[in-house]
Amino acid sequence: MTSARDLIAAARRARRNARADYSKFKVGAALETVDGTIVTGCNIENATYGLTICAERVAMFKALSEAHRAFRRIAIVADTDAPTPPCGPCRQILWEFGGDLEIVLANTRRETARYRLSELLPLPFDARLLT
Ligand code: THU
Repeated sequence: MTSARDLIAAARRARRNARADYSKFKVGAALETVDGTIVTGCNIENATYGLTICAERVAMFKALSEAHRAFRRIAIVADTDAPTPPCGPCRQILWEFGGDLEIVLANTRRETARYRLSELLPLPFDARLLT
């Protein structure tokens, strides 16, 4: 199992690759699989704005496309004093594919908060309702 410290360090490194040309708000994410693999992501913006994709979804989609199927936690790094939590759409995607992940929030200097995804998305819509 990767330490939270190492996962945050990986998210900080990924954040340096952010393509936040419009907002200038760079975000990095590092997703840990159950076997300890770390898959990173950064936000990628676009001149149309609406095609922007968050760091968390880049990390999850990269991981899924590389056949990872079970996840333990995700570290998310932004340069804010207050914790930067995942946006609503990212919460939904993380729940769909990662379940009740541990969410470790950090800035460029320190860890700022820790949650379970079920705390951030307490009444999820998911496949259980589609039966
Ligand atoms: N962003 C993320 O990548 N993750 C978050 O958790 C919050 C927001 C990105 C989207 C956009 O590129 C920029 O941050 C400002 O919203």
